[in-house]
Amino acid sequence: MGKATQDLKNEHEAILHVLTIVDIMLSADTKQDAEMFKFGTELVYFLKTFADKCHHGKEENYLFNELIARGIPNEGGPIGVMLQEHRLGREYIASMDQALSSKDLDDFKANAIRYRDLLRNHIQKENDALFVMADKVLDDARQDDLFEKFTEFEETVIGHGIHEQLHAMINQWEAEFSL
Ligand SMILES: [Fe+2]
Ligand SMILES: [Fe+2]
Repeated sequence: MGKATQDLKNEHEAILHVLTIVDIMLSADTKQDAEMFKFGTELVYFLKTFADKCHHGKEENYLFNELIARGIPNEGGPIGVMLQEHRLGREYIASMDQALSSKDLDDFKANAIRYRDLLRNHIQKENDALFVMADKVLDDARQDDLFEKFTEFEETVIGHGIHEQLHAMINQWEAEFSL
C-alpha cells in the first residue's frame, strides 16, 4: 500500500474507533442528558474537523483529482459516489449540530446513527475498492508526492497540533465516560 493511501487508511481506523464510541454512548441508557450533550458537542467538533475538513479534505482536494487524472471516473463512477456520500455526511453533521442547539437529544441520536451507518459503509468501499484501484494506478513517487501534500494541508488548513489534539480527545472520552 502506498504512503498516501496508508495515511488515509490510518485515519479511517481512527474514525471507525470513534464510531464504536458512538455505538456505546447511544446504547448506554445510564448516560445523563448533560453527558450526552457534552459528548455530542465534542463529537460534532471531531467530525467537522477531523473526518470532514481533514480527512475528506485530503481525499477531495488531492487523491480524487489524481485518480480522475488517471482515468477513474467521477460523474457516474466511484469518485462521484464518494463525493455524494461526503455531502450526505456533511448534512448529517449539520443536523446533529442543529439538534444539539435545539436541545433535541432524540434528533441528535437519530442523525448520529445515520452518520455512523453511512460512514461505516463509505469507509469499507474506500478501503476495499477505491484504495485498491488507487494503489494500482499511482506509483510510489505519486503516492509520496500526495503524502507530502497531505502533510502540508494538515499544517496549513487544519493547523499545527490539531491532529494530535483530536486524537487526545478520543482518549479523553474513554476516560471521562468510562468506556
Ligand atoms: Fe471518503
Ligand atoms: Fe475516507
